[in-house]
Amino acid sequence: MNNAHYSSRISGFHKKSVDERIALIADMAGLNDTERALMGNSGNLDQEIGNHMIENFLGTMTIPVGIATNMKVDGRDVLVPMATEESSVVAAVCNAARQSYDNGGFITSMSGTRMIAQIQLVQVSDPYHARMAILERKEDIRLICDACDPMLIKLGGGFRELEVRVIDTLSGPMVITHIIVDTLDAMGANAVNTMAEKLAPSIAQWTGGRTYLRILSNLADHRLARARCVWRSEDIGGADVRDGMLLAYHFAEADPYRAATHNKGIMNGISAVVLATGNDTRAVESGAHAYASRHGRYTSLTRWEVTNEGHLAGSIEVPMAVGLIGGATKLHPMAKTALKILNVQSASELARIIAAVGLAQNFAAIKALATTGIQKGHMSLHSHNIAMMAGAVGHEVDQLAQILVAKGMVRLDIAEKELALIRGS
Ligand code: MEV
Repeated sequence: MNNAHYSSRISGFHKKSVDERIALIADMAGLNDTERALMGNSGNLDQEIGNHMIENFLGTMTIPVGIATNMKVDGRDVLVPMATEESSVVAAVCNAARQSYDNGGFITSMSGTRMIAQIQLVQVSDPYHARMAILERKEDIRLICDACDPMLIKLGGGFRELEVRVIDTLSGPMVITHIIVDTLDAMGANAVNTMAEKLAPSIAQWTGGRTYLRILSNLADHRLARARCVWRSEDIGGADVRDGMLLAYHFAEADPYRAATHNKGIMNGISAVVLATGNDTRAVESGAHAYASRHGRYTSLTRWEVTNEGHLAGSIEVPMAVGLIGGATKLHPMAKTALKILNVQSASELARIIAAVGLAQNFAAIKALATTGIQKGHMSLHSHNIAMMAGAVGHEVDQLAQILVAKGMVRLDIAEKELALIRGS
């Protein structure tokens, strides 16, 4: 079928079997046999599970999972699975962690495992009065929320705090209620969303207003993961390297254009572990970037300082809404395996390790940027991708990658020419 003429209106697509869907899409898109087979190979995620995880499931997109070695977190050696398509990410963490290992590695803590859900109240002529009326109902609110999730209460979690704010908006004042709930080892989106939906009619009734949105906030600032680490000056190449790294940090601290890239590097590490453990990368990413702007100007998620002894001290504080139960963490066999490798007992422990990985990633990036530049390490890793794109297989991949790096030209056109030379053609 000519795909310029197909219609995207496919009625009942979700009711078809996975094989039927693949056949239909393959026909419409004109996929060849190899591409059809690719869609049908769901890798380490059973088709059956995938089909229940999302609507209109066809297949999977396999992302490499690597292990970050050398990580010591709170005195414990941890092996950290990372899912990423970017060549230098795992290597960077291994590198940064190795340089901190002999000095004790990372020390971490967590502000708690509490999530926020928001309830939007509008059409109140007396918003400040309404705010008081809601605050007075804290104990009623506790009862309504806790009744939603008896299992959470049994485990020691549940409603903790109430905050009510009046905000100015384009539609006039709104009264925004925050319920703050300890969701323990669950990321907690479902738990708090259920509570917010259950509570909203009471809020409308107590105030005479109308409620609209009832949803968690990804700015999870009651769920902050913290990590710190001291890299000894002599372990990182001396005072010049240290000072260059400080300048890199000061640049990011002052300039949102640089902070966006600096934090992107941090998220390279954070998102890779979040993904490998089946957690919600977008939730953590939006939380991190919103937190980085909390003072009204987007800035660095990390801080870098010099200790009394002249060593480099790094720290990070970042919202980390991850769980050990619920969602893909308990469904995806690879996520379950990743959690087993991590050997974590709680969501807090997982969150703290992820923060440490973010700090390690940032260390590696600013060190490379402040010294040799990022391209040297990046290109030597990337050369393997280019070699494979040029068609190298088996031992040719390493051989060709080395040639490209030696020539200082990690480019596809050069790789194709060099591969032809290797093959004597
Ligand atoms: C690349 O994925 C990440 C870096 O750009 C981070 C940074 O600039 O700090 C290297």
